[in-house]
Amino acid sequence: MEETKIILDEKEMPRQWYNINPDLPKPMDPYLSPQTMKPATPDELNVIFPMDLILQEVSQDRYIDIPDEILEIYSMYRPTPMFRAKRLEKALGTPAKIYYKYEGVSPAGSHKPNTAIAQAYYNKKAGIKRIATETGAGQWGSALAMACNLMGLECTVYMVKSSYDQKPYRHIMMETWGANVIPSPSNQTHAGQQMLAENPGHPGSLGAAISEAVEDAATHEGTNYSLGSVLGHVLMHQTVIGLETKKQFEKINEYPDVMYGCVGGGSSFGGVAFPFVVDKMNGKDLQLVAVEPSSCPTLTKGVYAYDYGDTAKTAPIAKMYTLGHDFVPAPIHAGGLRYHGDSPLVSLLHHEGIIDAISYKQLSVFDAALQFARTESIIPAPESAHAIRAAIDDALKCKETGEEKNIFFLLTGHGYFDLGAYEQYMSGKLEDDEYSERAEEEALAKLPQV
Ligand SMILES: Cc1ncc(COP(=O)(O)O)c(C=O)c1O
Repeated sequence: MEETKIILDEKEMPRQWYNINPDLPKPMDPYLSPQTMKPATPDELNVIFPMDLILQEVSQDRYIDIPDEILEIYSMYRPTPMFRAKRLEKALGTPAKIYYKYEGVSPAGSHKPNTAIAQAYYNKKAGIKRIATETGAGQWGSALAMACNLMGLECTVYMVKSSYDQKPYRHIMMETWGANVIPSPSNQTHAGQQMLAENPGHPGSLGAAISEAVEDAATHEGTNYSLGSVLGHVLMHQTVIGLETKKQFEKINEYPDVMYGCVGGGSSFGGVAFPFVVDKMNGKDLQLVAVEPSSCPTLTKGVYAYDYGDTAKTAPIAKMYTLGHDFVPAPIHAGGLRYHGDSPLVSLLHHEGIIDAISYKQLSVFDAALQFARTESIIPAPESAHAIRAAIDDALKCKETGEEKNIFFLLTGHGYFDLGAYEQYMSGKLEDDEYSERAEEEALAKLPQV
């Protein structure tokens, strides 16, 4: 019998993160300060980030040791399993082999703790007492709440209002781990007050929630800000996923032909894909495909330009694919994919043609999620189901061509807090959200002139 689970021993857990900076096809464009429009200095960034993370962001060391205290906590759920989706393959009647790595086994239910634990650690080391952050679907907030609790730090989470209303159990989970959760936009910050004055029914967005959390951190002594995606050090922490995946494929003497991952800010996709990027640049025949929602099509329809990371223009300006910092995506259930921008690293690799991108509408994504749940039994997060849709479509193409290819996708998390969305889908109430070209044009007109 061919294996269903490809499991690594705890001793095989990566001891170092992989830093892609020295292997990039061209150097990264620097982050710019929103005040001066000049390259942001470490001292400016140090107002909201600990120096260790700022140094990781610009490090040219290919590998960075993972401190023992972080490894100790990783060992609570890592290495994570890789599965062969035999039942899905059978249901599809495909000659392709489908593999997925499951990050939903972490206590918070997604890949997000991989960086939350690291960020809480470096903040604590820098003497910080409280971390402020934003969360979309609630996965990142849950991960940081858990990590702060383990490290003895306070945690304040600005949660996108549409998700706060859709997913009450997510904020109860964060509160269970001791975090203070505030629906965003809120009246607690100047940024939030301004957004509510302009639009009292504002559904919230990641860009808006980031503004609130950054302001909170910048205006309170002993408080730092923490970002769950987008930045280079976040993607680097997530490379434990890709490093394990490589070992898991080696164990079964296989190699993927194509790797799919959903993309919000790009941390899970970067984490799984980066350890494979060098192989591809060295000539390996491998497709790396980012999958995004068609209502927030940053890589597929955005422009590659410098833009603000948040709505209120307080976070550093980054060169990335963007739909404009004012773009408010439709309140789809994959809340974690509703970000106007994207990781500068993923953006650069997409611009250089190393990473491909595709997008799907919400209903077809839920269709794939249900098919997966009814074959493999894990109920996927709506974000992760974007990658499942892509993998299924590829496997169906293989059915026509007879190609026996190895299809891999990253299952970033479970959807046990997303059952309201499943209920809406199954009762026929869920609709496809249309994407507004005009809203994007308006938002792009406000890109910073640099
Ligand atoms: C389960 C899950 N997958 C994917 C994402 C997207 O984030 P990223 O692109 O940083 O991996 C999120 C974000 O909240 C998420 O919760």
